[in-house]
Amino acid sequence: MAPASSSAPAMGLHLKQKIAKVFEESLRITVPYELDIEPAIAPCQNPDFGDYQCNNAMGLWSKIKGKDTLFESSELIGEAIVKNLPPSAMIESCSVGQNGFVNITLSNKWMAKSIHEMLVHGIKTWAPELPCKRAVVDFSSPNIAKEMHVGHLRSTIIGDTLARMLEYSNVEVLRRNHVGDWGTQFGMLIEFFFEKFPSKDISSDQAIGDLENLTWISPFKAFYKASKLRFDNNPVFKERAQRAVVSLQAGEEKYRKAWAQICEISRRGYEKVYQRLGVHLEERVMLLKFGTRIKLFNHKYAISNDFFLFYPSPLQGESFYNPYIPAVLKLLDEKGLVKESEGACVVPIEGKRIPLIVVKKDGGYNYASTDLAALWYRLNEERAEWIIYVTDVGQREHFEMIFSAAKRAGWLPADRNKYPKASHVGFGLVLGEDGKRFRTRSKAKEWTAEELDGTAEAVSYGAVKYADLKNNRTTNYTFNFDQMLNDKGNTAVYLQYAHARICSIIKRSVKDVDELKKIGPVELAHPDERALGLRLLQFPEIVEEACTKLLPSVICEYLYNLSEDATRLYTNCQVRKRAGSYSARQQGWL
Ligand code: ARG
Repeated sequence: MAPASSSAPAMGLHLKQKIAKVFEESLRITVPYELDIEPAIAPCQNPDFGDYQCNNAMGLWSKIKGKDTLFESSELIGEAIVKNLPPSAMIESCSVGQNGFVNITLSNKWMAKSIHEMLVHGIKTWAPELPCKRAVVDFSSPNIAKEMHVGHLRSTIIGDTLARMLEYSNVEVLRRNHVGDWGTQFGMLIEFFFEKFPSKDISSDQAIGDLENLTWISPFKAFYKASKLRFDNNPVFKERAQRAVVSLQAGEEKYRKAWAQICEISRRGYEKVYQRLGVHLEERVMLLKFGTRIKLFNHKYAISNDFFLFYPSPLQGESFYNPYIPAVLKLLDEKGLVKESEGACVVPIEGKRIPLIVVKKDGGYNYASTDLAALWYRLNEERAEWIIYVTDVGQREHFEMIFSAAKRAGWLPADRNKYPKASHVGFGLVLGEDGKRFRTRSKAKEWTAEELDGTAEAVSYGAVKYADLKNNRTTNYTFNFDQMLNDKGNTAVYLQYAHARICSIIKRSVKDVDELKKIGPVELAHPDERALGLRLLQFPEIVEEACTKLLPSVICEYLYNLSEDATRLYTNCQVRKRAGSYSARQQGWL
């Protein structure tokens, strides 16, 4: 019998991979001529049959029928697979079902030992190994001076979760907030800003304060709307605004300053949202001259006493990539990808009726040229192997076109499963209970500050986040407080409740976890204990699946099942007490 690996601190292969490895050996012996056959292992759909199943026999049968006279049915292939299994401490028994499916039951002893190892080595060692070392997650990404809407909130929650999943799996994640901080609208905003605050030194804190005070997140909504109105209706203003864009792009100080100011105000607004959600976005290292006075995010100043200083700036948005656009377009042009069309420059994309416009008729760059430059920068300067974009599904087409262009340019491999890889993580709309697009504030009634505070208190952030994450992200979902706060369904509240109960059992049992580590494996005697044990052993493969598919809902479902297993266990099982044995509930621990 091959001994199960015992003292390796790193997880290495996860449970499913370990099973696959054993079955791979058997398949080599059973069908030696099938050189590239991969073992098809999956959890058993019906736990009464076993823990996992091997699904290779049926496919093999249709392939070798009539060719290999050794086997006369898929069942016989299944039986041969079982017979040829190498000895393994992991597997207790196997049975062959209809069509040759092999049901696998794991050994209780092996399971107990593996769980004990998980306990001893700690959660860090449970992480799966991903074939990627550095990733960019482009998420949140609201637009400066516009309202941060519920779609940006979804992007923030999903993007942060994906980043955490990858970070846990030892991938270095560059969290990028691709804010819309560049474009012709800034001419209009800057001119309006000058009009609104003519007497103020725009670099003063007071000007910022005044603007901030207009309102909080939506101050800008009003500011943007008002400036747009003026732009549309006043030709003199319009002309000034157009000149302002030119001045801004030419780097004139007065305009640059006003632009930076407007960005800073928006940024302070977002930061409040990020802080509340516990979301962290990128920090950028800036090279600063000795003695430079730097304004920090939290309204403080610092003097750099070194050449390097960490400047916490969540902005590596559109403006950051602007200087790279000409060179990147030149690269595409050299490959013969850029064509002229009706005065604009475009990249035709195979299978798409409309090409990707990269230089507008007026010579300006746009969202697409910025994204091409950003993708190039992330691949070549930041050396990321996986670039992940989190936006609503409405932008799928845009990203498909960007990725196609990058493939044609040779920046990305043609095979979408190979690295470096770019993925668009699209999510659906958030709907109100009326089935229409959810609005952050209802039209009929603006909420008062107290109402808002009260609601924020009542709804834990966990509930909101979880409601967002547990759905397959591509579907729309209905925003419903009652459902989110239900303590029985698949909600954050239920998970927190299960967690609190488990903590209370641990506390009242007066057991020292470090002592348990020394004692050695537990016994998985009761079926509920075994079910919980199996679930725990599956953690690494679940994280791997969630990361590979970029689906946080896979982890949510796992956590829900885990909580159910734990609840069943402490309801049904005996928990030890000095005098006799009672279930945790009988003992009044819960
Ligand atoms: N600012 C954009 C929006 O609000 C989202 C940006 C997404 N990221 C990107 N690299 N295009 O729609």
